[in-house]
Amino acid sequence: MPRFPEVAESSVGLSDAVFSKLVARARQNTERNGSGNLYALHVGDTYLDPYEGARAEAIRTIDHGRLHNYSPVQGEPVLLDAILAHVARRSGVTLDRELVQVVSGATAGIAVVVDALLSPGDELLLLAPFWPLVRGTTQRRGGRAIEVPFWDRLNVLTTVAQLEAHLESFVTPKTAAIYVNTPHNPTGSMLSAAHLDAIANVAERHGLWVIADEVYEELWFEEEPASAWTHPRLRPRAVVVHSVSKAYGLAGARVGFVHGPASAMQAIRGVQTFMTYCAPRPFQLAAARVLVEGRDWIATTRAHYRELAHRAADALSVPRPPGGTFLFVDTRGRRRDGESPLGFLERCVDQGVLLTPGTASGKDYEDWVRLCFTTLPPTELDEALAILRRILEDR
Ligand SMILES: Cc1ncc(COP(=O)(O)O)c(C=O)c1O
Repeated sequence: MPRFPEVAESSVGLSDAVFSKLVARARQNTERNGSGNLYALHVGDTYLDPYEGARAEAIRTIDHGRLHNYSPVQGEPVLLDAILAHVARRSGVTLDRELVQVVSGATAGIAVVVDALLSPGDELLLLAPFWPLVRGTTQRRGGRAIEVPFWDRLNVLTTVAQLEAHLESFVTPKTAAIYVNTPHNPTGSMLSAAHLDAIANVAERHGLWVIADEVYEELWFEEEPASAWTHPRLRPRAVVVHSVSKAYGLAGARVGFVHGPASAMQAIRGVQTFMTYCAPRPFQLAAARVLVEGRDWIATTRAHYRELAHRAADALSVPRPPGGTFLFVDTRGRRRDGESPLGFLERCVDQGVLLTPGTASGKDYEDWVRLCFTTLPPTELDEALAILRRILEDR
């Protein structure tokens, strides 16, 4: 039992510095060398301003009474309308309005879902590599994040039976849920119907919840994929999290939404009340606007991101990602002889490029690095890619 000055066990080791060593080194380099360029590719964001009608300056007190007040806990009515229309268009499903909850971005949304579905000591299966923050989200609940090597194994686990057996080997009596994110951070890959069959089989057999992370639902570069949660055997147990951060360029707005079965949503609304009460009202109105009016903006942005994805993948000689905003690059055989993964990342920082260490996405991914190809304007991205290409070739 922690007592002053100790803190709760579940928060020990949590920090805002998932990439601390590298950021500190980058800062030291800048101080030493003056104002040298640093190409920061380590956080997933965009250099684009959002759709005009959804920008901060477009939401005015003169147009919206009590703009800076609280909104209802469930969310602004106009946003709930827009969400129902968006889900019907994207996934062909008419949601029950009561079963939708607006949240303060998917990060807080997933924390609310984890609080609602897991008890301390419960286990959450993370298909690795994974979005870096989901591991800490589980820890702060007092849950256990179980890392299941997955996305890089899909080429060897080729049948539903193999995949199912692999997943099943990580299930214990404490397993409460599986976290499924597609299109995926960090690989940009997507799950097929067969992958979802395997997940559904395991979830059904062991009575597990499925947390479906849809934040990249608009960021696909070939054919529009079906939404994973609409798989007929996942849907009854899927709690689905969306966000306006990614395709809509509104990461600073902190708006997302969750839907799922009634028992989960009742608990989620309860937890949300005690977490942030409501999402920021001005940006809920902005999110409603982009969901309704932003289709052209999103189509243009998707085509542009596709171009950036291809440019980045080609520059680094890795496969073009089918979606998302990241490349996940295996540095095995591409580092200098005897160079450690950290040494490689430090060499990148010293030459001005900040990447995410693969271990942020899972303990088995030390040899990998992640970069976001949408966070810098194209000319700067090209400069960063040219540096990286030289580093990968300089062995
Ligand atoms: C897979 C995934 N889920 C959730 C989030 C969090 O999104 P938000 O900005 O809505 O908190 C991110 C952000 O990078 C992400 O990549």
